[in-house]
Amino acid sequence: MQLEHQYGAHNYHPLPVVLERGLGVHLWDVQGKQYYDFLSGYSAVNQGHCHPRIIGALTTQAQKLTLTSRAFYSNLLGEFERYITRYFGYDKVLPMNTGVEAVETAIKLARRWGYRVKGIREGAAKIIVCKQNFHGRTSTVISFSSDPSSYTDFGPFMPGFELIPYNDAEALKAALRDENVCGFLVEPIQGEAGVVVPDEGYLRTAKELCAAANVLFIADEIQTGLGRTGRMLAIDHEDVRADILILGKALSGGVLPVSAVLADDPIMLTISPGEHGSTYGGNPLACAVAMSALEVLKDEGMVENAEVLGQYFRQQLRYLQSPFIKLVRGKGLLNAIVIAHPDKEAAWRLCLAMKDNGLLAKPTHGDKIRLAPPLVITREQVDDAVERIGKSMRILS
Ligand SMILES: Cc1ncc(COP(=O)(O)O)c(C=O)c1O
Repeated sequence: MQLEHQYGAHNYHPLPVVLERGLGVHLWDVQGKQYYDFLSGYSAVNQGHCHPRIIGALTTQAQKLTLTSRAFYSNLLGEFERYITRYFGYDKVLPMNTGVEAVETAIKLARRWGYRVKGIREGAAKIIVCKQNFHGRTSTVISFSSDPSSYTDFGPFMPGFELIPYNDAEALKAALRDENVCGFLVEPIQGEAGVVVPDEGYLRTAKELCAAANVLFIADEIQTGLGRTGRMLAIDHEDVRADILILGKALSGGVLPVSAVLADDPIMLTISPGEHGSTYGGNPLACAVAMSALEVLKDEGMVENAEVLGQYFRQQLRYLQSPFIKLVRGKGLLNAIVIAHPDKEAAWRLCLAMKDNGLLAKPTHGDKIRLAPPLVITREQVDDAVERIGKSMRILS
């Protein structure tokens, strides 16, 4: 901890625990103490830590070929592209690495489509986004953040974005009247904001409004996707198909940065050779790992487990009937509790107590604690975890 403090930039405020090993839902610190992981690497580790099949794919491929760059073909990229496009039902995929790169890619694609297909005047394209969004940390993406800690003193900012309230179809309808709008970028559940679940029907209505206005519906499923909410995609809850689908995080099961943007030909083919790319995007190691990560999600019934145990988990949290839990919310295994307590540090103190009791989670925006274990968790483990949370709540009395 001292080394990180002295030699690392101070851009995070970690819980004081030093981890060295992980397997399934568990993590171990350097003293050998075992914890439940209820953060899952911000939902990157949906498949559980060091999933043997994913690690198998990684180590096998790592001994054969790791990077070719896109200057040449590899024997795996095409195979991965066919696998993931069939898996999600799109014509094409564009592979990247981190989540925010995939968001950037989606923004470029939407603008390109806006100019070349929709016929928007050069330089006038607009993308509608929602307040309290979190789409990553690049200069473009923080340009449309409404969180001062994300953008303050990082300007000047990228124009071309309009912020509207989340979960407000009327606001979207009004914003869509501008014919320069090419896309609506939305998180199906706002994860970083504290697992804000929109009203049922919002996403379906939003998609319909976008379709009627000839605007691309762009779903950022980086945190909500890949089984986390009890469906393969969170938009599947409302039978919505995104025009541009953005995936990241659990696409590698927490093994290495792999992200992807999926779309059909009229959108994807607006980008030609030399106009967008990434040295590591689509590398053979990432392809092997991502195929394995997607395979195990289906083979091991993780999506269904997230749905069933998510409902059970929320119910058990409500049974705790703590006066300090203002709200339990979420879908599948993407959940949060909102803490009501006069002490502003209560959520942080609770996370420290949970750590002492063998469960790791982290507050977001002060009073919210996200509770998102790997999707391989069992009912007995949920019971055990809820007991630990309940016990930890006592420090707030
Ligand atoms: C919805 C969403 N989009 C984008 C990102 C950015 O992903 P990355 O940190 O891999 O760049 C995140 C990260 O938390 C996210 O939750």
